[in-house]
Amino acid sequence: MPVSQPTVQVTNHLDPDQLRQALEEDVRAGLTASRKWLPPKWFYDAAGSELFSRITRLPEYYPTRRELAILRARSADIAAVSGADTLVELGSGTSEKTVLLLDALAEGGRLRTYTPVDVDAVTLEAAARRLAGRYPGLAVRAVCADFEHQLGLLPRAGRRMVAFLGGTIGNLEPAAREVFIKGVRATLRPGDTFLLGADLVKDPGRLVAAYDDAAGVTAAFNRNVLRVINRELAADFEPEAFTHVALYDARREWIEMRLRADRDMRVWIDQLGLAVDFTAGEETRTEISAKFHPEGLRRELAGAGFEVRRLYTDPAGDFSLVLAGV
Ligand code: SAH
Ligand code: AVI
Repeated sequence: MPVSQPTVQVTNHLDPDQLRQALEEDVRAGLTASRKWLPPKWFYDAAGSELFSRITRLPEYYPTRRELAILRARSADIAAVSGADTLVELGSGTSEKTVLLLDALAEGGRLRTYTPVDVDAVTLEAAARRLAGRYPGLAVRAVCADFEHQLGLLPRAGRRMVAFLGGTIGNLEPAAREVFIKGVRATLRPGDTFLLGADLVKDPGRLVAAYDDAAGVTAAFNRNVLRVINRELAADFEPEAFTHVALYDARREWIEMRLRADRDMRVWIDQLGLAVDFTAGEETRTEISAKFHPEGLRRELAGAGFEVRRLYTDPAGDFSLVLAGV
């Protein structure tokens, strides 16, 4: 008897040349700016995704546990309200929390397709294969793509719920966030839904601890962007010569991660033919992680044409999940 193979399909929309060009442009623009910056997207090679997975298990990093608690309590309701047969997940990573949603959708008897979407092809494919093995009969159509620029390329079949979990929305700059939410709205049809996970404003001490853990895993994650640039662009960064910095900007209600040069340094980026000078103490911004108020989330979603159907929080009020329709 032939054993039926799980149905996994992986489509890669990230052309290596374009990806390389995007990295070159970002690094050149960010490191020649008067206040240096690098976009967080480049943290996530296979090693960066692994470091992020370790972050999710740290005692200080509450968001993953809180979002899991909400999903445990609310997945059945989410599945029922969405009525989805297709789950599209943006920035899916290891898809660990997703099983709660898939279980609830499968329970309702409608689940047909899961489309995880991520820039890290290695982690994406491993997650897709794991989930296809777990749900026989589920079509797993993984898409390696950039959710900021390629939403239009995602499959549109079925009654879809687009999930964007983990608080990754907070890693977008406010203007990019608005464009992104409107972009998601534009891909949805009546009956489709958007499930958005967002971290909430809270005590700054807890916020900073979540991004500056005692074991130094977040520091290693932060420095990973320098390793990616060394490998991909033949640069000679010494990652250990940069100190991890996490601070909370209370006015803008976001965490900023930075890399602070420990001494004066000149870094050569061979593939760009570019020398970058760092002065001792100079900081390069590598990530923002915005924190939200429930009313702000409602306002931003409504402003993009969404209708908020549910807004759940965990009992401690740390994290929120919003289910919105169109
Ligand atoms: N959703 C998971 C993972 C969050 S980590 C969770 O909640 O735990 C953020 C994920 O988004 C990573 O897997 C990273 O590779 C992916 N990512 C970051 N920027 C992206 C982009 N522009 N397009 C697609 N995926 C992106
Ligand atoms: C992926 N994203 C939601 C994480 C966050 O909390 O902003 C990335 C991260 N950066 C440092 N720790 C975790």
